[in-house]
Amino acid sequence: MDKKIKIWLMRQAGRYLPEYQEIRKKEKDFMKLCFNPKLACNISLQPIQRFNFDFIILFSDILVIPYALGQNVQFKERVGPVLGELEYNKIKVDLTQNMEKLAAVFETIKLIKKQVKEKDLIGFCGGPFTVLNYMIEQGTSKTHDKIMNHIKKQAEKSLQLIEIITEVSIEYLKKQIDSGVDFVKVFDSWAGLLEGDDYKKFVTEPNKKIAQEIKKYSPKTKQIFFPRGSNENYLTFIKEVKPDVIALDEKFPEGVFSYAKKHNITLQGNLPPSLLIEGGIKLREGIKNILNTFQGNKHIFNLSHGVLPQTPIENVEILVEEIKKYNEA
Ligand code: CP3
Repeated sequence: MDKKIKIWLMRQAGRYLPEYQEIRKKEKDFMKLCFNPKLACNISLQPIQRFNFDFIILFSDILVIPYALGQNVQFKERVGPVLGELEYNKIKVDLTQNMEKLAAVFETIKLIKKQVKEKDLIGFCGGPFTVLNYMIEQGTSKTHDKIMNHIKKQAEKSLQLIEIITEVSIEYLKKQIDSGVDFVKVFDSWAGLLEGDDYKKFVTEPNKKIAQEIKKYSPKTKQIFFPRGSNENYLTFIKEVKPDVIALDEKFPEGVFSYAKKHNITLQGNLPPSLLIEGGIKLREGIKNILNTFQGNKHIFNLSHGVLPQTPIENVEILVEEIKKYNEA
């Protein structure tokens, strides 16, 4: 087995980088940044230039899908995303039109691939339930009352919306593949809110649909899935969705290791972002533990969630250096 471990970080482009802040100061509208191919390409490459990570991830956001469907999406400073009211009768599924609204993203992908040929580029979308969560909550929520009520009291409507988001997301990933991405990743950040039959209907099934359609469309494109917070359900998810790579947070059943090994699935993860802030001996021990734990499996080093804005650059440098040392040993 190839012992060499690759590394990239979720949110590797972002506010902890002064060069990102610099661009952000000039473009205060985050959505405009996502739809500016030249700037989005520059931002995608910033962490590569600084740390030489093994993968480039497209700079964009999962909330471009609600935008493409006709919902208003804004990012407010110190608040996060704020979405307009979800008006069902205004949700427009017209794949050609929806994709036209995302045309700038495809341009960004082409620009990145033109500039860097030797590294794999990861495109992405949100998991359908996670996207629905933001559409219903109209932003970030601590309690998730609105979404949980919605799937309970308006189950049929919720599933219809999931189907719509799934269909548009599949089309979006296909267009990203046409534009040049080598990997696609589905971020289902709020999968962990659900259990049992709800987990199956809103998480497993739509993710499986995306996986199957993309495999049919482009068998060579590698698929990464991140059903964050799935906990015990991680194993069922892997068995049903059959990803090439499973992104792990901190809690998942032991059985994942042997199942992944048997089915040639790569594990991605899973250093807590808080350790990358803390640094020092705790960081070095954390890295070492993960390398030991994942040793018998194919492994891509990453965090268990995104890089936080207060992360010191030198700790990221330490991390990259440790992985390099491990690979050379
Ligand atoms: O990982 C990368 O470097 C690629 C770019 C990327 C962003 N968002 C850029 C971003 C990716 C893959 C995402 C995914 C995303 N967006 C997810 C799934 C992953 C996760 O974190 O759970 C979610 C839930 C979103 C929605 C979103 N975008 C929220 C809730 C926020 C606000 C919270 C925050 O960290 O500010 C964003 C903003 C966002 N997306 C930023 C970046 C760099 C920060 C925006 C800024 O510059 O102010």
